[in-house]
Amino acid sequence: MLDEEMKEVLRRNICYFATSTNDGKPNVIPVGLVEPIDNSRILLVDVKMNKTRRNLEENDAVALAVTDFEKLRAYQFKGKAKVVTEGELLEKAKQILEKRMEIRKERLKRRIEIEDNPEIKKKLEEMAERKMRPKATIVIKVEEVYPCM
Ligand SMILES: Cc1cc2nc3c(=O)[nH]c(=O)nc-3n(C[C@H](O)[C@H](O)[C@H](O)COP(=O)(O)O)c2cc1C
Repeated sequence: MLDEEMKEVLRRNICYFATSTNDGKPNVIPVGLVEPIDNSRILLVDVKMNKTRRNLEENDAVALAVTDFEKLRAYQFKGKAKVVTEGELLEKAKQILEKRMEIRKERLKRRIEIEDNPEIKKKLEEMAERKMRPKATIVIKVEEVYPCM
């Protein structure tokens, strides 16, 4: 169901994760910590989700949308989500977070070097040092894929 190109697009881009209350009030948020783990499952790392988590408690139907402007690819994935707070998948989420935070730190360092505004520089330095811990991992079992391009 998920081919190699879709996996690459999910890893390289900011995605938008949609959930809903039981009576149909939608909620959509940007997510960057996204990793396909096989041909039908996508793992998201929850570090800051609130309403999303509350929605998942009452309604497991979700959608994830992503666009890659370089590759000119865009997809919507629909499926069912499960919240995992322990075990092997949470360990995987920790590894993904660590790796992405290193990349983010390097990117921020390069940006700090060329920043002249001391206020912005300070903000960026704080961002580079910020520690994040996964609260949970959300595993989406993909049931439908829609190319949007
Ligand atoms: C570019 C970008 C990427 C983000 N990636 C994540 C992520 O991977 N995991 C996460 O928990 N929060 C992430 N966030 C933060 C959430 O989108 C944000 O805290 C959101 O308001 C949570 O909303 P909710 O209360 O509706 O769940 C990201 C924010 C931005 C701007």
